[in-house]
Amino acid sequence: MTNKKKHVAIVLAAGKGSRMRSDIPKQFLEICGKPVLYYSLHTMEISFLDEIVLVTGEDQVSYCKQEIIEKYNFQKIKRVIAGGKERYDSVYAGLKAVQNADYIYIQDGARPFLTKEILQRAKETVEQFDACAAGMPSKDTVKIVDSNGFVSSTPLRKNVWTIQTPQVFSAALIREAYDCLYQNGDLENITDDAMVVEAMTGKRVKLFEGSYQNIKITTPEDLLIAEKFWTEN
Ligand code: CTP
Ligand code: MG
Repeated sequence: MTNKKKHVAIVLAAGKGSRMRSDIPKQFLEICGKPVLYYSLHTMEISFLDEIVLVTGEDQVSYCKQEIIEKYNFQKIKRVIAGGKERYDSVYAGLKAVQNADYIYIQDGARPFLTKEILQRAKETVEQFDACAAGMPSKDTVKIVDSNGFVSSTPLRKNVWTIQTPQVFSAALIREAYDCLYQNGDLENITDDAMVVEAMTGKRVKLFEGSYQNIKITTPEDLLIAEKFWTEN
């Protein structure tokens, strides 16, 4: 009997994209003729991952089925479900929809530059440490500020990383962390999944290298940068 571990992804595409200020949610805007969301799904489709759960807006489920899954013939997307108000609500909805996973890969649908190398590093890191997130050393110096905008401290730049997705966890650990968050955690200020694990469990999160290209499409200029990356590569 083989003991192959099951690797499942939750791809988040239920945001409204308020900082993008576009009528169409940013995950459905096009870069080089394909929706932003297509790219990370494609990288996953041709990877070692076993299954994908796609989380989108309640009124975008049928759009995703037709315009993403059928149109591009994705085979690994087993479910398309409705997300929630905040990113963590969408993750929680995704976690409830994932069945029988050993490892869960949480990916922003708004990050089109996922590569097979990043996914491979994620796999190796989670298999060793059970909790990991992609990131890169910060190029800029980072300041911690008080509520009046005065600097209160300056962390050593070599110790500062900016965090990306995928963020990957053993399934039991991420479920425990999110259950705990919803039962008695402080939901305010949660911006990524590693934070939930850090705050709700004793588990330490290991960082691995994403890439400087692995940007999240967030504001309008990011689309121009993304187009440039695609045409150069
Ligand atoms: N996301 C989600 N459900 C939400 C909020 C966000 O699935 N309720 C997803 C987004 O679709 C995106 C990822 O989480 O792929 C990262 O979130 P972010 O960049 O903040 O996207 P939005 O929330 O859509 O953008 P904004 O914060 O500017 O409104
Ligand atoms: Mg947001």
